[in-house]
Amino acid sequence: MKFFLDTANLDEIREAVSIGLLDGVTTNPTLVAKEGAEFKQRVIEICEIVRGPVSAEVTATDTEGMCTQGRELAKLHPWVVVKVPTTKAGLKAGKCLVGDGIKVNCTLVFSASQALLVAKTGATYVSPFLGRLDDISHVGMDLVRDIVTIYRNYGYKTQVLAASLRHPLHIVDAAKAGADVATMPYKVFDQLFKHPLTDKGLDQFLKDWEKAKVQ
Ligand code: E4P
Repeated sequence: MKFFLDTANLDEIREAVSIGLLDGVTTNPTLVAKEGAEFKQRVIEICEIVRGPVSAEVTATDTEGMCTQGRELAKLHPWVVVKVPTTKAGLKAGKCLVGDGIKVNCTLVFSASQALLVAKTGATYVSPFLGRLDDISHVGMDLVRDIVTIYRNYGYKTQVLAASLRHPLHIVDAAKAGADVATMPYKVFDQLFKHPLTDKGLDQFLKDWEKAKVQ
């Protein structure tokens, strides 16, 4: 499973890269706005740090506008993946960008039927938003399972990118469901490392070691 960070914060990305476990980054307009950075410059900076796929989202809502923005974004850096919303206009733009040889991530996916359409456009990634489904009392993970089954049935190459992940169990369940990628906030990435029994056990080992040394 590939690990992406869902952030536009450079410190968080640098930290994850330094551990050696980061495969890519996803951003969205909300995350970029939160950083108060110039969008295109920030996308380039992220690409330079990650050296892996970086999703940057279009903000136009019509097909032509999305295609124009998508082409501009793709020119920023070879690692840019253009994120388009999974609307009819977005899928049309996605198909057109794929035709230009640009990697596309179809975002805001909430149903298996949308995911089926995404695969047919030839997009590189489909992004089901699990946490947001959980928020409205739907089991988000069921959607990942459905998409993985459908894609396997037909051999679609589009990678399932589990998004809107809110806690470590989301990552584990997405891995069990067969998602190709999990994108997560830095806080969740950090939580994956932690277990109180590891800390307790290490503490005891070191205490015993010290005791043995003084004997
Ligand atoms: C993924 O590409 C999205 O940016 C992200 O996972 C959305 O997560 P949220 O629902 O926590 O905002």
